[in-house]
Amino acid sequence: MNKELFFTWKNMYSLKIHEIDEQHKVLVKFINDLYVSVSKKQDTEKSREIITKMSEYALFHFATEEAYFKKVNYDKSEEHILQHQSFIKKVSEFKEISDKNHPLTFRLVQYLKIWLTDHILIEDKKYVALFKAMNIN
Ligand SMILES: [Fe+2]
Repeated sequence: MNKELFFTWKNMYSLKIHEIDEQHKVLVKFINDLYVSVSKKQDTEKSREIITKMSEYALFHFATEEAYFKKVNYDKSEEHILQHQSFIKKVSEFKEISDKNHPLTFRLVQYLKIWLTDHILIEDKKYVALFKAMNIN
């Protein structure tokens, strides 16, 4: 049976930049995996593994975006990078909780979902026109 996903990718999240869209989809998948793991409350080990991999992937993804910011000389890169940094900080706090063997909560998973959708829809959208103009597709 197909249970509905916690975090469903929607077309409106697409920036129409293939590489970035694919990376965002991977992050969505990590958040869904984490949701499933958090649902099984005794599975703290698994949740820790997922959040660790997710934060590593988020770093890789942010580095991809930030390299493009440099390349295209993006004027809003400073504020955008600050958002990435605060996300990483927050996730590392969650990781610490998990490292102490405390179970992660739905509040965390909800936070990740809201942060990513808001970030894509508001902050990421701002660079799309410039990326496109610079032939980053
Ligand atoms: Fe971003």
